Amino acid sequence: MKKDLSRRQFLHRTAGAAGALAAAPTIFLQPEYISLPLQNVAPSDRLRFGIIGIGMQGSGLLTNAIQLPGVECVAACDLYDGRHLLAVEIVGKKIPTTRRYQDLLDNKEIDCIIAAVPDHWHKQVVVDAVSAGKDIYCEKPMSHSAADGVAMVAAAKKTGRIVQIGSQRVSSVVCTKAKELLASGIIGTLTLVEGSLGRNDPTGAWEYPPPPDLSPANLDWVTWQGTVPQVPFNPNIFARWRCWKEYGTGLAGDLLVHLVSGMNYMLGWNTPPKKAMALGAIIRFPDGRNMPDVHATLFDYGGPPVYLRLNLGCDTPEIYRFQGSKGILEVTEYAISYFPQSGQDESPSYYTVSYPKAMREAYAAQWHQEHDPKPGKEPVAQGCVYRSISWDEEKPHLWKFFQGVKNHQPVTEDAVFGHNAALACHMANESYFRNSAVTWDAATNQIKS
Ligand SMILES: NC(=O)c1ccc[n+]([C@@H]2O[C@H](COP(=O)([O-])OP(=O)(O)OC[C@H]3O[C@@H](n4cnc5c(N)ncnc54)[C@H](O)[C@@H]3O)[C@@H](O)[C@H]2O)c1
Repeated sequence: MKKDLSRRQFLHRTAGAAGALAAAPTIFLQPEYISLPLQNVAPSDRLRFGIIGIGMQGSGLLTNAIQLPGVECVAACDLYDGRHLLAVEIVGKKIPTTRRYQDLLDNKEIDCIIAAVPDHWHKQVVVDAVSAGKDIYCEKPMSHSAADGVAMVAAAKKTGRIVQIGSQRVSSVVCTKAKELLASGIIGTLTLVEGSLGRNDPTGAWEYPPPPDLSPANLDWVTWQGTVPQVPFNPNIFARWRCWKEYGTGLAGDLLVHLVSGMNYMLGWNTPPKKAMALGAIIRFPDGRNMPDVHATLFDYGGPPVYLRLNLGCDTPEIYRFQGSKGILEVTEYAISYFPQSGQDESPSYYTVSYPKAMREAYAAQWHQEHDPKPGKEPVAQGCVYRSISWDEEKPHLWKFFQGVKNHQPVTEDAVFGHNAALACHMANESYFRNSAVTWDAATNQIKS
């Protein structure tokens, strides 16, 4: 097909898209400055927290939380005694440890709780904590089921306690800048959202090595299973609970929830999807799990389509692409890139190859007369790149929580926000298991096919 490379199009091609980004200014975003070390805060002004669950995530949260100013950990709870030792090692001094989280909730010295227990325990821990008058930071996904989430929102509302869910990118400087850019209309009319993430190794697929000494002597296995039908002691379930729907929420609750929470935050959305249609399979890790290791979901939020894909069988970067009439905003862990598009014809319509010669030439001449920029008035397509620290940094999110507790201020990722994000994940799972599209029925608080 003959292409008419007009002056306007030439300018666009050379300045636009990748060309624009190569020369685009890179702006470094500064995270919020958190200055004071613990020692500068009087003991009477310190926030005292207790932690429930000091496993893979809880150990990181504990390490980060105790580095924040005016915050100290005064007790730790886990059902596995090895993690009592780990908590003491992280805090660097003897603190009370227990297998009963109720001990922490009864302790009047404790202002708030951090909970990083497996998904099937989230509801009970949150409901018990807020009912005992404690504010709580609970890990994502907020709930193990839609019904759990409904109960958690009700408990948060009834008690008025602060509940913050742990999708840390919601407090990241990367997502906050992207939110500002999207709100400013940088991409024009939003037409489609896509997001994806892939891994390709056994650890990424949750085949974690259980602690070698784990046994019913040092782990309260019965309590660990909670209300799930009891099975004999199984170290693999303890370490790899994400693989089974009885305890975890699969790829949806582990990784999709991060994509959804970040998307909702950046777009200023705070509702469950109206509809979800998912496809998935167990392809790469058929190790006895019942959760898919590939899971792609199309969501209807009542506007542009949202297409989010997770894959444990091929490594791909985690990325959002917000697509709109004025270009694409790409958001990744460390960077935001804007690829401008004019949204206009850059040359006479190629449909006119179907015109006879004289008609085509007349059309082209008129088009150029009407559209070619005057010398010195050529449009400039300017892309831009922002870089910052990882959106996975936990300190900013923990800091937002502790500030909320201290000042009795609402937090962004509260129970309603967490519930709406988790619902998207439960709908993705339900759609996969039911092999049909599902909808959220707000009147009955149920996922329907
Ligand atoms: N925000 C993130 O980036 C991120 C990353 C990893 C995990 N997570 C979330 O953190 C949570 C924990 O994940 P993990 O990988 O640390 O799990 P894990 O299995 O490594 O640790 C969970 C710990 O909780 C303890 N536990 C379970 N039930 C308990 C109870 N009733 N009382 C006291 N302790 C109990 C277990 O003994 C275990 O030590 C999950 O909800 C997960 O989705 C979030």
